[in-house]
Amino acid sequence: MTETDRQSTKATQASHATTTGMVGGGFYDANSAPQWRAIEAVFPLITNAMATLEVEGEGTIRLADFGCSEGHNSIAVMAEALDTLLPRTTRSIQTIHSDLPTNDFSKLLLNIRSDGRSVFGSEKVFSCVVAGSMYDQLVPDGSLHLATTFNAIGFLSRRPLSQLPDYIFPNGPSAVRSNGKVSETDRQAFAELAKQDVASFLKVRARELAPGGKLIVQVFGRDSDASTSDGIYDLLNDAVLAFVENGEISRDAYARYYQPVYMRSLEELTAPATDPSYAVSDLFKLDQSMSYEVPVPFNEAFQRNGNLTEYAAQYVDFFRAFTEAVLINALPDSPRRDKLVNKVYTKALELLMANPDAYPFRYIGVAMLLTRKA
Ligand SMILES: C[S@@+](CC[C@H](N)C(=O)[O-])C[C@H]1O[C@@H](n2cnc3c(N)ncnc32)[C@H](O)[C@@H]1O
Repeated sequence: MTETDRQSTKATQASHATTTGMVGGGFYDANSAPQWRAIEAVFPLITNAMATLEVEGEGTIRLADFGCSEGHNSIAVMAEALDTLLPRTTRSIQTIHSDLPTNDFSKLLLNIRSDGRSVFGSEKVFSCVVAGSMYDQLVPDGSLHLATTFNAIGFLSRRPLSQLPDYIFPNGPSAVRSNGKVSETDRQAFAELAKQDVASFLKVRARELAPGGKLIVQVFGRDSDASTSDGIYDLLNDAVLAFVENGEISRDAYARYYQPVYMRSLEELTAPATDPSYAVSDLFKLDQSMSYEVPVPFNEAFQRNGNLTEYAAQYVDFFRAFTEAVLINALPDSPRRDKLVNKVYTKALELLMANPDAYPFRYIGVAMLLTRKA
């Protein structure tokens, strides 16, 4: 990683955000094949949205993706939407790719227009980027026709608790590893904020969407059987604890550190859209919702070729891409902080290689399609 990437992970956090973003410089794009699988599984929602969108009228049709990161997956999502939409209209279309101000927008812009022309290959399609928290209004009233978010709304708008003393993730450890604990009261604080975050997101998108506009909210989550946090956070927790035990990370820093992300059930995702107490249910019609599991590419490859070194590298790079910025910012600023963070991920690699069965990872997605009421 370059010094520029490092600086961007250390940049000041935006309001209504708990991370500065993914590891940049192409690292997130290169390590987000599992997220892409989770997006592919909701293509029917995208097709449904674009096939039923009212396209009569004049002016530009605008499609916005919130939490787009470096853009590889966001661009592919828009391409999928355009496949259905373009044949239905002669109107110009604008794709808007939005993320936190600290996101690697340089990589995103290169992805959008790498050889001097639109990546979408149509003279009717124009693209732009918008910086800000997805929990704030970011584009003018009534200007959008499709809003989407993928694998992003799990990142909470704020830290509801100052510490999570016995584990690094709000949903707690997996049953397999059981290497820590989160009290039910603490977990509830995150669960309630996660619902309020969906309500905030719906409220601001309701302002931005034109009547009849479509909204797709997809995110990693959990079902009755597994959580997308299982395995990856058990491993990160064990790796961090190795440095608590040798004194390089203080017990106090460990108690304050947690990844500010919550794994929702489908019910927790849809509740704000249907429960009037969140004050947004009259703004949208819930058209479709789904909970699903996708196969993870590095699990499939490992089953096929048994290559443990390759499996461990891909597994650790996958979760490093979305956890590193929070871990860096949780540790006291010092000249040795970057080295220490590198050592944590190297330790994770060693632990996984030594005991791959202790950290099984599965990807559960939850998603909903809504229509903005008139
Ligand atoms: C795991 S990535 C998902 C990227 C892409 N949508 C995909 O599915 O591959 C999560 C993205 O959400 C962004 N994010 C986190 N909190 C956010 C917030 N409050 N507002 C906007 N984006 C946010 C991160 O910066 C990151 O780019």
